[in-house]
Amino acid sequence: MPTTERRATTGDATTGDAGVIDPARLVAAVTDRYPKARERPEAVRVLRAPGRVNLIGEHTDYNMGFVLPVAIDLEVRIASFPTDDRQVEMTLLETGETAGFSLDAIGSRRGGWIDYVAGTAWSMVAAGTPVHGFRGVLASTLPRGAGLSSSAALELASAWALAGGGAPALDGMTLARIAQRGENEYVGVRCGLMDQFASALGVPGGARLLDCRSLEHRPVLLPLDELSLVVCHSGSPRRLEASAYNERRAECERAVSAIAAVEPAVRSLRDVDLAMLERYRSRLDPIARARAWHVVTENDRVLATEAALRDGDFDTVGRLFAESHQSLRDRFAVSSDALDALVAIAAGTEGVVAARLTGAGFGGCTVNLVRRERVAAFRAAIEQDYPRTTGLRPTVYEVEPVGGAGLVS
Ligand code: GLA
Repeated sequence: MPTTERRATTGDATTGDAGVIDPARLVAAVTDRYPKARERPEAVRVLRAPGRVNLIGEHTDYNMGFVLPVAIDLEVRIASFPTDDRQVEMTLLETGETAGFSLDAIGSRRGGWIDYVAGTAWSMVAAGTPVHGFRGVLASTLPRGAGLSSSAALELASAWALAGGGAPALDGMTLARIAQRGENEYVGVRCGLMDQFASALGVPGGARLLDCRSLEHRPVLLPLDELSLVVCHSGSPRRLEASAYNERRAECERAVSAIAAVEPAVRSLRDVDLAMLERYRSRLDPIARARAWHVVTENDRVLATEAALRDGDFDTVGRLFAESHQSLRDRFAVSSDALDALVAIAAGTEGVVAARLTGAGFGGCTVNLVRRERVAAFRAAIEQDYPRTTGLRPTVYEVEPVGGAGLVS
């Protein structure tokens, strides 16, 4: 997929100046690749779905807690041409690689990017949602394997294409849940709802707070006149991510079961507070207790961050991000030397208001709120100091909050 990040730099080399995938280029590619699209050019649609960066609320979604993700202007785009033959076929703009499947015989996962499309189709069919065949050309500005939810973006863009390319009959939350189920049950990754939710329901200019138990959500605007959202990719592969992620989930479930044995009303860590963790200390093994402690305190930090952003209290936002990072490092054990190094550099750089690891962890990215006039200096600090301490090459993205998946007009 093309690397066309407008504001991204890797090491000391700017990777390009085109931040968006030109819709005209995608349309030309789909009509070129699929001659039938030439007969009805008016039926070709360009769909987009953003990646996400989570401000705070990590490993809380599958524990029925709170998350505060931002949909970002690194995204997946599909130029699609609906067909009536129940076949789905997509070609990658960058490499020309093609993959597809029949909607009437989706089969099981193959082990490639098409699984996210097939899983979404499978889940839409399971939900009784009408699906249509299409031919498409796919491009992305989202780095893969960086923890910025390129999979969720592909799922949401595919959901729109599978719905026929027009506005789907289903609302964003329903589409997000369908996509999550596809990833859980078809692809086999036990993720929570956050990534698909963020891609479906992004807010231009801000984040969206989701209560993963009630599914209520509300926009949280960011002070973007003063602060910039900067994502630093550690450049380290997210090794063992899937197995370690599932292990963390199991540890959280172990804590819930131990407490629920004496407090039957407890269904998830959302029903647990620190007093309970103290009271049932002897029932919990140290690992389950540490994981639960992270989740319980992280939920409070999400709500406190929302309030601090509303009040323009950047000191408090910075403290909450720092506490979140420490808790993820020490109690949830999902940080890495590379992520700690990025956060340490951020903490020592003037104008960085807040910094922490974002997403699942085990590598991937940090999220930073940086005073606009200090972004260039921060970028320079990361690009100089990080390779020196870690031997790795960072990529720095200055990103903007955007709206959720939909048609490119
Ligand atoms: C991954 C998962 C999300 C969430 C985060 C951690 O991104 O896909 O559902 O659990 O990790 O907060």
